[in-house]
Amino acid sequence: MTPLSTLRVPTQPYAGQRPGTSGLRKKVTVFQQPHYLENFVQALFDILPGQVGPIAGQTLVLGGDGRFHNRVAVQTILRMAAANGFGRVLVGQGGLLSTPAASAVIRKQGAYGGIILSASHNPGGPDGDFGIKYNIANGGPAPEKITEAIYARTREIEAYRTLEGAAPIDLQRLGTQLLGTMTVEVIDPVADYAELMADLFDFEAMRAWFAAGHRMRFDAMSAIAGPYAKAVLEGRLGAAPGTVVNGEPLEDFGGHHPDPNPAHATALIAAMAAPDAPDFGAASDGDADRNMILGRDFVVTPSDSLAVLAAHATLVPGYRDGLKGIARSMPTSCAADVVAQSLGIACHETPTGWKFFGNLLDAGLATLCGEESYGTGSSHVREKDGLWAVLFWLNLQAATGRSVEALVRAHWARFGRHYYSRHDWEGIPVERADALMASLRAQLPALAGRELQGLRVQQADDFAYTDPVDGSLSRQQGVRLLCEAGARVVFRLSGTGTEGATLRVYLERFEPDPARHDLPPQQVLAPLVALAEEVAQIRTYSGMDAPTVIT
Ligand code: G1P
Ligand code: ZN
Repeated sequence: MTPLSTLRVPTQPYAGQRPGTSGLRKKVTVFQQPHYLENFVQALFDILPGQVGPIAGQTLVLGGDGRFHNRVAVQTILRMAAANGFGRVLVGQGGLLSTPAASAVIRKQGAYGGIILSASHNPGGPDGDFGIKYNIANGGPAPEKITEAIYARTREIEAYRTLEGAAPIDLQRLGTQLLGTMTVEVIDPVADYAELMADLFDFEAMRAWFAAGHRMRFDAMSAIAGPYAKAVLEGRLGAAPGTVVNGEPLEDFGGHHPDPNPAHATALIAAMAAPDAPDFGAASDGDADRNMILGRDFVVTPSDSLAVLAAHATLVPGYRDGLKGIARSMPTSCAADVVAQSLGIACHETPTGWKFFGNLLDAGLATLCGEESYGTGSSHVREKDGLWAVLFWLNLQAATGRSVEALVRAHWARFGRHYYSRHDWEGIPVERADALMASLRAQLPALAGRELQGLRVQQADDFAYTDPVDGSLSRQQGVRLLCEAGARVVFRLSGTGTEGATLRVYLERFEPDPARHDLPPQQVLAPLVALAEEVAQIRTYSGMDAPTVIT
């Protein structure tokens, strides 16, 4: 075996991607280029000693969402980890680990860090997407100074270390194997995670809820949540076999888009609207960190979900002592703010992206976090967590005896309803999307105080965030038009798309009057849609007539 390969690295992995995003996400065909993955991984291993500390003898966690190329990439990374001096790698059986489970394993096992292979909710398969990201010892995504150091290193790196010719590890066989002098421990990908869930939630009450005849449908979307949901819901909580549908992880997610939202989880929404619908419906995404919550013929928006969980948190054993604070991304609705106010705790407003929550959680400033993009989580890990959110809702139903719809309606009656929708315009040529945003920014000073589409704009700005823990400043995080009476429009460009640019337009309107809580959201939000079009000229810039996805 040759411990040092001097093969040149011909590709720049981050080419075309905004540096600072938490990982690298590209088409599978790009990752299949010779030395491409190796470039990223060696760049990571090269910068870690300077950024974090020596890697010699350390423990690394490794696993992915099982999408096409997962197994190949796992073997490559194992050989490189061995050649770079790691002492031990904990790898999920079959090379699998959901994102939240990887976070849980890193924390529980006190690992140095972890590598997660996933492109989240993006489609998989030979023509689909692949991705890799690094998480630090707190279990959360690497901070920007690390991802930027990786990016810089990928541009100058000339060689990588690997154990050439080493036999592949048997990823099915639980237990310890040797790769060079490094130990590879193939672990049950579910065990640590399931134990953590049992610590947080009232499994006994939830078992009783199922035993009383309640039914549930969990759509794992042929992604990695399947094994976790089956083990917990059907295994530990006694839900009927078949509760988890699409529960086998497939390399191409069955050809579907594993993104739990009304645009992509149409089968679940239809099942929940059928006459024989179960009591509770839920879904999660490719790497199981996102969640969607449904009652019978009733879809819960992620912003409302965060607010309802926060308002009832003390009913759940893991949060019995109350919340230290709540955190939401800026475009997420203000429903959680109202709850925080009534609880007398802070609600932190952060830029989009889970990494901003990590500091708040580590510093004990927040316990629950959420984003409008179907991400919810808490201090139990440092990633959003799909199944955790579903179990939280299950615990609330078991503890209160109320249905999902009843819980949400009672919440609106008490706190008011924040009507909410996101309109995505996908595949806009990058220069045009940039021009649209530049035009919006140029208009900001003139917009405040104006009346548009019958709504007075009170404040128009570009969201900036100063991290209360490390003082770092993030600018240009989204253009906001804050109108009277709790109405607002937010514009930002996606940082995770892999083709062209995606413009996200976030629309929100507060309605305190319970007599007006049953209106169609798109109708309530129509004036804001018109306002967005008037100011941003989206149709002209995009050349499209309508958004491609509405959630
Ligand atoms: C999207 C979501 C964001 C989420 C991220 C990763 O990012 O909007 O809330 O944190 O995916 O799941 P975006 O494409 O908007 O940059
Ligand atoms: Zn995801």
